[in-house]
Amino acid sequence: MPVKTWDIWVRFTHWGVAGIVVWNLFGPTDQVHRILGYVAAGLVMSRIVWGVIGTTNARFSAWWPTRSRLREYLRSLATGKPQHHLSHNPLGGLMALTLWLLILTLAVSGWMMRLDAFWGEDWPQILHACLSIALQVCVCVHILSAIVMSVWTRENLISAMLTGFKRHSREKGPSP
Ligand code: HEM
Ligand code: HEM
Repeated sequence: MPVKTWDIWVRFTHWGVAGIVVWNLFGPTDQVHRILGYVAAGLVMSRIVWGVIGTTNARFSAWWPTRSRLREYLRSLATGKPQHHLSHNPLGGLMALTLWLLILTLAVSGWMMRLDAFWGEDWPQILHACLSIALQVCVCVHILSAIVMSVWTRENLISAMLTGFKRHSREKGPSP
């Protein structure tokens, strides 16, 4: 039975942020780059608010990667029977937090680069470039994990992020 998982705001912010990140990583570093960078940071901040007031699966309470959740999830991977989560699994949650943090710090370092206060200083540029490399690495791991876990658990996570529906409703049991 398909079950509603991701509301429209989760999906809109995901694909909006993903599009901007790809553009900003590989496109020209002009004014559009700067405006889009701030838009991405705004979308991330709105998603963080949605994590407090949003629908059940969007909320931090549903997927915050606590130490015990992480331990249980890693054990399920080690035994070859990955837990099924309706919201993010704990590793996915950890990655979501990391990606958001990188995008927000990119916006802050981009803003700092252009402040008079840092005129002649190299480190904001270096920080911005290092954060963008870290973001590229994390995005690659993120996409690869989404594909691997979709195949392993036979639950198409990517189509769920597009349509809002997951195929299986069982929460936290082994994947069907
Ligand atoms: C390129 C930049 C991307 C960034 C920065 C990014 C970031 C994120 C973030 C922050 C989340 C958590 C979403 C939320 O809770 O609101 C997420 C989830 C997800 N992303 Fe991405 N993403 C990117 C690209 C992609 C691409 C290209 C795919 C597909 C191949 C993808 C597939 C997914 C899936 C399937 C989930 C949900 C995972 C789950 O079910 O737990 N992402 N992504
Ligand atoms: C999603 C957010 C962002 C990403 C992924 C991103 C990524 C990048 C990348 C890959 C570069 C080239 C780095 C290099 O020199 O090798 C760059 C440069 C630059 N970014 Fe961003 N950026 C983001 C947000 C911003 C924001 C919000 C601003 C400022 C308002 C900004 C301002 C700049 C500027 C001025 C440069 C040129 C730096 C230079 O001349 O060395 N960026 N950014």
